[in-house]
Parts: sequence; C-alpha cells; structure tokens
Amino acid sequence: MDAKIIIAITEGGMSARFDSPQSILTGGGSHRQAPELLAALHAHHTLLVVDPYFASADFVSEIRLGLERQGIANEIFTDFQPDPTDQNVRTGAERFRAAGADSVLAIGGGSALDVAKMVAIASTNAGPLSQFQGYHRIPKPGPPLVAMPTTAGTGSEATKVAVITDTDRNVKMMILDAKLMPTAAIVDYELSMSMSKPLTAHVGVDALTHGIEAYVSRKANLLTDPVALSCITKIHANLRTAWTDPGNAQAREAMSLAALQGGLAFTNSSVCLVHGMSRPLGLLFRLPHGLSNSVLLPTVTRFSLPGSARRYAEVARAIGLASDRKSDDSACEALAEWLDQLNIDLQVPRLRDCCGGDVEKFRSVLPKMASDALDSGSPQNNPVVPAASQIVELFERAW
Ligand SMILES: [Fe+2]
Repeated sequence: MDAKIIIAITEGGMSARFDSPQSILTGGGSHRQAPELLAALHAHHTLLVVDPYFASADFVSEIRLGLERQGIANEIFTDFQPDPTDQNVRTGAERFRAAGADSVLAIGGGSALDVAKMVAIASTNAGPLSQFQGYHRIPKPGPPLVAMPTTAGTGSEATKVAVITDTDRNVKMMILDAKLMPTAAIVDYELSMSMSKPLTAHVGVDALTHGIEAYVSRKANLLTDPVALSCITKIHANLRTAWTDPGNAQAREAMSLAALQGGLAFTNSSVCLVHGMSRPLGLLFRLPHGLSNSVLLPTVTRFSLPGSARRYAEVARAIGLASDRKSDDSACEALAEWLDQLNIDLQVPRLRDCCGGDVEKFRSVLPKMASDALDSGSPQNNPVVPAASQIVELFERAW
C-alpha cells in the first residue's frame, strides 16, 4: 500500500514534493477508529508497539478488543527504551516475524513511533540498520503502519524519519526515507491529556522548533510554508494554556494538531541547526529529544536570525509579535525575546541544569558534539551554516 501523496509544483523554478500519511484521523475519541482502519488496510495480525507506560492503559485494551471484533489477531510489544536502539528494533522485528504479523499499530511518543517504523522496515529488509542511515537508503517498503501519538510534539506520526541509536558506534542514526511515512495517523488529543507539565513543555517547544526550522530552512517551499506557520501560530496561542491548565481540552487539541503540522512541515522541508546540535547532546547526556531541543532553541535562533531576517520576521508577524510597520530586525528581536520568555515561563531548565553542572566534562565533549552535529547534515540547512567552532560557542552560550 502506497502511503504517500506526492504533489509537485513549479513556481519561479522551484519544485516541491509533499509526503504525508494516506489518511489522517483527528478529534477526541478518534483512537476508537483504529481497528476499523486496520481492517480497511487488510490487516489479519497486528503487532501493537506500545510505550511501556501505556501497556495496561484502558484505551489500549479497548483497541485490542476492537481488533478482535474485527477478526484481527494482535499482540503487544513494549520491550524498548526511551531512546530506542538497534537492538530494540531487532527484538521487535523478531516478534513481528514469529507472530506472523502483517501490520503495525504504534502507540506512544516519538520513541514508540520511531521504533515501530523501524520494526516494520526491519521485517522486510534484512541486515544491520546502519545500512539505512542517511537519506533514501531503504530498499523495500514495510507492512502497513498506523501511528497514534500520545504526546503532542515529535510529529513522528506524519514524518518519514526515525532516529535510532546504533549501539556499536554510540551514534543516533537519522534515517530518512519516504518508506518510513506511516500509512495512517490517528491524532486523538485525549491521549495527550495525561502528559506531565515538563513533558508538555518540552515536546511543545520541540513542535515549535519543527515549525520554525521548517519555515527558515533552506529547503522550505511553498507547500510547507503555510503548514509551518499554522503550527507556530497554534503553539503561540495554546502552549502556555496547555501547560498551566493541563485539563484544557481546547488547548490540548490545538497542540496535538500543531505537532502533526510541525511533523508534516519539517519532513517535507527540513530541520536545521537546533536538531543538529540536539541529537549529540541528547545522546551524550541522556536528555530526551524534546528537552535537548528546548534548551537550545532560543540561543540557536538568535545566532541564526541574520541569515534569514525576512523569514524570521514573517514568523514574528504571523503570531502578532510585530506589526507590518516594524523593521525585520526589530521583528526578529521580538521573536528572540519571546522564545527566551517562553522557556522561562514553561520552566525549561538551562543546559547546565540538565547536564549535571560539570562544566569541565561538558567542555571535554564539545568538539565531538560539534562534529557529530555537522555530520548529521541538519546544520547545512540552517539560515546561517555554522563552522564547528561556532557550534562549540553556541553550546557554551546555552550552558
Ligand atoms: Fe524534533
């Protein structure tokens, strides 16, 4: 089943391609449609890849019951860690094959969704996962996969990316291929209502990073621009409310949709320097993805403003931080100030507070982190393409 929609446009010599799941279901309670959706995808045996936190949740039992009613056998796989590894994927793929499964239902945050995507791919492609690292290196598509996020952040339900740690090399591998795009996404904000305040903040700022980086990226295009701006606008209007009032359904719903849009935007444009620096930081200091992006976003944005003042100013104007009469430079300053204040308001810690406060240890790994960041390819899409020494300086500034 082909899970992608491709639209090519040409305007002023610029062409673009937009991939997305073939179906996206949204709305409170939409998780109940998972069994029907899998039946429509001709599933007979589904492997549920579920965040261990939700393994015994009522809604998961409800879905399994629904699958049985549809005549779809199913079993649950929860044997993976927050930053999933190649070994987690291997174990999941063995379970998939041993069960004779023909479809995957992923339930959880970015880690669950990423591991599920790679379990599906590993079930049809032999060999080590490292061979898929980079861009478009997966030979065969996997079985149908339905992705159901329980956080409002990564947007992994609508991206063609998975990040998996290679345990031999201790590297977070970025694997990007249209074959990783889920066949369908079910974005039910009700599943995100139990997120803690810190998690709401960190994944929310991660989604904001997706919107901003997709918009200012050198790969931004006419198809991704409106999606990115809509993502940013929703987060500006709702993240604080979702954080201060976790039971606010309207804010939670808006944040879930923003995260979905952030995923769609960056997967068809790109992420940039924040994500490039965030991956090695997360790996070496065991920081969750949302947190490592959140601590870097204000500092890296300030550094990047001169490379695309017009685009950053458009972001500031779209969310009402500056009027049309204000210069690009003052709109950029308003954006940078807002990002600083947002992190303060959401109690996002400083980098030193997440890394144990040992500045000498931190400094000793800066050259490796800078070189790993550059190797990921993401900084090359940034409005200002940094040298390794500038990345080191940015890590110091964020400390
Ligand atoms: Fe991200």
